[in-house]
Amino acid sequence: MIIAITGTPGTGKTSVCKALGLEFMDLNKVVEEEGFYTGVDNERGCLIADLDKVEEYVRHEEKGMVVVESHLAHFLKPDVTVVLRANPLLLADRLKQKGFSAQKIKENVEAETLDVILAEAVERCEIVYEVDTSGKSIEEVASTVREIIDVEMEGKKEGKTVEETRDKYKPGSVDWTCHLTVTMKNHKS
Ligand SMILES: Nc1ncnc2c1ncn2[C@@H]1O[C@H](COP(=O)(O)OP(=O)(O)O)[C@@H](O)[C@H]1O
Ligand SMILES: [Mg+2]
Repeated sequence: MIIAITGTPGTGKTSVCKALGLEFMDLNKVVEEEGFYTGVDNERGCLIADLDKVEEYVRHEEKGMVVVESHLAHFLKPDVTVVLRANPLLLADRLKQKGFSAQKIKENVEAETLDVILAEAVERCEIVYEVDTSGKSIEEVASTVREIIDVEMEGKKEGKTVEETRDKYKPGSVDWTCHLTVTMKNHKS
């Protein structure tokens, strides 16, 4: 079973996976370390991942269950996909602190506001959870992700069924469109 933790950069994928207490694969590291890329995107300053090779590698390493995290994780035909979301204003602050360029912050904040990764995940993956991380600590988000993984693996967890859990975090619960004008205005200046 492949469990994908995806989301716009800055939504907390790596931090949350570290707090899960489970082994996980950081796909960005796999791409770089294993040389699974077809080229370099000079404009964005990142590698162009060879997703077929990454998928083959992940399936080979799977051994029952594997958690993979990356903003590309939902492209690996995962069994379960968890999309982390964050309020665009919060995301802008986090990316600024991470040292992202103004252009990269703008791109990611707009992608988050417009649900780009959620839409990609829903289009490709059968089982998608949407988790709003805004106002929650890394540990709180990790506990929610753990609850999702446990219930998907075991069918039931602490009286909650898979159906109830999927319903609780079903896609469409987050709506950042109210931030559209704010984000556009912010980035004009
Ligand atoms: N729920 C959260 N609350 C507060 N800060 C967070 C939270 N999740 C992530 N962060 C912070 O935001 C930054 C980006 O997190 P990171 O895990 O690197 O995101 P990603 O892997 O999705 O790009 C880090 O500085 C991290 O400490
Ligand atoms: Mg990361």
